[in-house]
Amino acid sequence: MSLLSVKNLEVEFRKGKGDPVKAVQGVSLEIAPGETLGLVGESGCGKTTLSRAILGLKACKGEIQFKGETLDWRSRGEMLRQELQLIFQDPYASLNPRFTVEQTLEEPLKVHRKLSRRERKDLVSEMVERVGLPLNALGKYPHAFSGGQRQRIAIARALILKPAFVIADEPVSALDVSVQAHILNLLRDLKAEMGLTMLFISHDLSVVRHVADRVAVMYQGKIVEEGDSRSILENPREAYTRKLVEAVPKLDV
Ligand SMILES: Nc1ncnc2c1ncn2[C@@H]1O[C@H](COP(=O)(O)OP(=O)(O)OP(=O)(O)O)[C@@H](O)[C@H]1O
Ligand SMILES: [Mg+2]
Repeated sequence: MSLLSVKNLEVEFRKGKGDPVKAVQGVSLEIAPGETLGLVGESGCGKTTLSRAILGLKACKGEIQFKGETLDWRSRGEMLRQELQLIFQDPYASLNPRFTVEQTLEEPLKVHRKLSRRERKDLVSEMVERVGLPLNALGKYPHAFSGGQRQRIAIARALILKPAFVIADEPVSALDVSVQAHILNLLRDLKAEMGLTMLFISHDLSVVRHVADRVAVMYQGKIVEEGDSRSILENPREAYTRKLVEAVPKLDV
């Protein structure tokens, strides 16, 4: 059974009196437990809008099921916010500059889990090490870290509650190319260790293929091709996918 199933999702933006922009047009997706689905497509094709609609942050038509249960637009936000975490492109904007790493990671545990101080501290230290940061990072503030380290902090925060489902929207696009590979490897390791289920969004197929089990190619609001990562890369059927594949650098990270 799918963890998340999306059927015929439609999202429109209305601006003034002109025709509405159909940002997402009849998209259907299935994500199985433990699977990472890569959603790839050029800027403006509707990837972020699709994820916002799934989260209940943007009104949409269509059906969304999570753990076999149909979620209406109102209940969805609440339900998903408890089981779902997000990783964004810009870790600096998503981290509170006034919180140390320890406070950042403790906060969700304080709100959502009944734990002793000791248990919280242990979980926080464990998570910090798991994402490859030194323990002395705990007392420092976000500004003290590089972009890649900040993304590690954001990943630790997203995963500390062991969410059932993670949406990562362009998680490495703001990072230097040399750092991107480290973060992608980290996500891949964590996925295996924690059995994460993930929707991994990027405009860059060379990034997506490093983490995704399956890839869905989005073009102008529609999924034009879908398949396991390898066959999409080796045998793309759609002209648009071939264009994306040709743009993948020949050098491996
Ligand atoms: N708030 C908004 N108001 C009006 N139109 C919007 C709004 N947000 C997005 N759009 C339009 O919806 C379409 C999809 O945008 P979206 O941000 O989902 O694309 P994306 O694939 O995430 O792009 P990127 O790779 O740049 O993040 C675009 O045509 C965009 O202009
Ligand atoms: Mg986007």
